Amino acid sequence: LLILDQTLLPHEVREIALATTGEVAEAIRSLRIRGAPAIGIAAAYGLVVAAGAVGRGASPAERLAAVRDAHDLLLATRPTAVNLRHALRRTLAAAAPGPDLAALLLAEARALHEEDRLSCERMAHLALRHVRDGGTYLTHCNAGALATGGIGTALGVFHLAAGRGFRLRVYADETRPLLQGARLTAWELAQSGVAVTLLCDSAAASVLAAGRVEAVFVGADRIAANGDVANKVGTWPLSLAAREAKVPFFVVAPWSTFDLSLPSGRDIPIEERSPGEVLSFAGRRTAAPGADAANPAFDVTPAALVTAIVTERGIIAPVTPATVAALASG
Ligand code: MRU
Repeated sequence: LLILDQTLLPHEVREIALATTGEVAEAIRSLRIRGAPAIGIAAAYGLVVAAGAVGRGASPAERLAAVRDAHDLLLATRPTAVNLRHALRRTLAAAAPGPDLAALLLAEARALHEEDRLSCERMAHLALRHVRDGGTYLTHCNAGALATGGIGTALGVFHLAAGRGFRLRVYADETRPLLQGARLTAWELAQSGVAVTLLCDSAAASVLAAGRVEAVFVGADRIAANGDVANKVGTWPLSLAAREAKVPFFVVAPWSTFDLSLPSGRDIPIEERSPGEVLSFAGRRTAAPGADAANPAFDVTPAALVTAIVTERGIIAPVTPATVAALASG
């Protein structure tokens, strides 16, 4: 499985080959590949890797057991993005013991990948009504092509608009502590010809309050049945600042990001990452000796602070349990 190693971007554009499920799991855990839809797609291909990596003498039942073990290993890599669980379940459901096991898994993984690509296109077209030539917008983390199987979710609309000749400026939060905004979003948008202005995460509120932004666009890692949205930590404070400044706050996410089994965002598991990501910078400890760090990777934005959720099925606005349920059944 070839992936672009996102930890090396933007200074080095290097593909790496993952030959075992353990390597795929490590790549997801260490954010070599990241973003909710992208980790789901990578994990689906990870099951194909598992089927191929079993020794030649293995029986069909042993091969299937190896794929099931891979499913469990990959599912445990990152707890918040529900796309991972959906992709793994769906790909495993396509498995049947026999000589075609790897081919069946590969066909399902490719179908999932292609569906995500099409979802991104559709969401970007739907979100385009909220973007104008000459407009200035704000985003957080990276919800772009790097994070999906297509042109991205929140960034997809900017790529599409730029392709149509719109002149846009996007404020990108640098996204502490791992700098997905500074390293990845800025890299991606610059390639589409979008003017990018980086902001320290803590500067976003004052930029919004100053009236310099027309709308905020972010992605999501899991959306509960009541429309509460888990996304990269810092999204919730951003939504509060947007509400205060009366700036529309849009979430762009495919249907694979919804988890209707959870009544509210309170039930969404939040990944706690290593304190080292906060205590150090570029591999060197920056914090004073003796300091500890908390490192939640995500937070939950209440539905009431979200102006609309753009999905490939349509736009949810206002965001309430009833409007989410209506799109689910529609
Ligand atoms: O920890 P990351 O980099 O995987 O977090 C990614 C995000 O929070 C994105 O906003 C989200 O996955 C949306 S992906 C289109």
